[in-house]
Amino acid sequence: MSATIAAQAAYLVAALLFILALAGLSKHESARLGNAFGMLGMGVALVATIVLAIDGDISTAGLGLMAVAMLIGALIGLQRARGVEMTGMPELIALLHSFVGLAAVLVSWNGFLNVEHEPEGHEAKALEALGTLGIHHAEVFIGLFIGAVTFTGSVVAYLKLSAKISSKPLVLPGKNALNLGSLALFVALTVWFVITPELWLLIVVTALALALGWHLVASIGGGDMPVVVSMLNSYSGWAAAASGFLLGNDLLIVTGALVGSSGAYLSYIMCKAMNRSFLSVIAGGFGIEAPSGSDVDYGEHQEITAQAAAELLGAARSVVITPGYGMAVAQAQYPVAELTSKLRAKGVDVRFGIHPVAGRLPGHMNVLLAEAKVPYDIVLEMDEINEDFADTDVVLVIGANDTVNPAGAEDPSSPIAGMPVLTVWEANKVIVFKRSMASGYAGVQNPLFFRENTAMLFGDAKARVEDIVGAL
Ligand code: TAP
Repeated sequence: MSATIAAQAAYLVAALLFILALAGLSKHESARLGNAFGMLGMGVALVATIVLAIDGDISTAGLGLMAVAMLIGALIGLQRARGVEMTGMPELIALLHSFVGLAAVLVSWNGFLNVEHEPEGHEAKALEALGTLGIHHAEVFIGLFIGAVTFTGSVVAYLKLSAKISSKPLVLPGKNALNLGSLALFVALTVWFVITPELWLLIVVTALALALGWHLVASIGGGDMPVVVSMLNSYSGWAAAASGFLLGNDLLIVTGALVGSSGAYLSYIMCKAMNRSFLSVIAGGFGIEAPSGSDVDYGEHQEITAQAAAELLGAARSVVITPGYGMAVAQAQYPVAELTSKLRAKGVDVRFGIHPVAGRLPGHMNVLLAEAKVPYDIVLEMDEINEDFADTDVVLVIGANDTVNPAGAEDPSSPIAGMPVLTVWEANKVIVFKRSMASGYAGVQNPLFFRENTAMLFGDAKARVEDIVGAL
């Protein structure tokens, strides 16, 4: 008994450590510490779970199975985490969410087989005596539904992000009606199951939820996948919380709720920064209509050489670098860090302006710059730097496109109208590093490239930055 109390106390400590982890991860300076809190919390939770199992008289075979499962899980996790590239992170996260979904499905089925399927059994009788049998029916059904939607949704997200299937949105006729109809059917089936918990209802809802998860994510375009991944992150949290209720595990309930709410909030922040509504992301289909403005004549663009760019930079007082997805693709963060330290050594004031959705996942640019050891104090958020562009001599737009598109601020007919952007065009000179005049993720042309104070430096961002470093 005392071991059970100690394990429950350890669960409380683990929950606090998870909250500290989230708090730590919200700032660069404390992100490592946040990660350490998270790992410690998970370690404490694992030990407490084993202690609880032993105290609950688990058989030796059961304990052996637990050890084998933990070992296999740890080995796969270690191997995948060590090998993953930063650009492959979203797909890995999507895959991990599918495991949470699958676990919730299995927990629900297990709950059904132990209780609803054995009405004369010990567990069913105990719940009946407490008057909570009906609640158990609802927990089984709802947990199963959320888990199954998360499972297939995450598998599709993984397949799309890893380019194993086409990232184009699937557009079935009446797709929104299909989604809403499935939800309505789920509610009706839940009521039915709570009244008469029969096996066939569970089979039907499993099939319905698996199909809904698949359809929901298949009808969303590849570009919106980061929002979808964070949405699935939220679902996986709620699925874990539902499993926590079924297993009577308080830590799982708390952790699930933390993941569920932080994932939902992150999805909201991402949608806001892209000026998209959450519902429009769920409804899917973004990027299939022809982008407006594609037939507009913006005039001629100018080009610049790396040598000339180096001269401009050498003579500048203040420089702002706004990186985007192209910096990640080119892995240009190391030469960018080198360029920064060279310019700072010459007395140039160099800072970075980071758009909240630059790249393809939240904090993408911050992680790359931290990896290349760019000092945190010169890496500023969009809101912190936007007012300073008018006083900036040179802006280097490195592989960014949509996040510096003036159409977001100035063209109400643009598909990205209203998206807050970095107002780089207010600077004296803008140099854009990219390989061609191709559009960015949103598929819209960028009038910035044709402005008088803008010059294009074509080529791979890494090679061009290295050329400038060489010339300096
Ligand atoms: P994008 O608009 O995606 O543009 C990236 C640019 O990088 C492209 O125009 C491409 O032009 C260039 N590029 C690619 N590879 C390059 C290379 N090797 N060297 C040089 N340039 C290269 O980038 P952004 O400004 O970072 O915007 C991010 C977009 O993703 C936004 O539309 C945002 O809404 C969306 N999004 C972001 C998130 C998160 S959380 N970050 C989530 C969902 C959606 P070339 O092909 O001509 O080289």
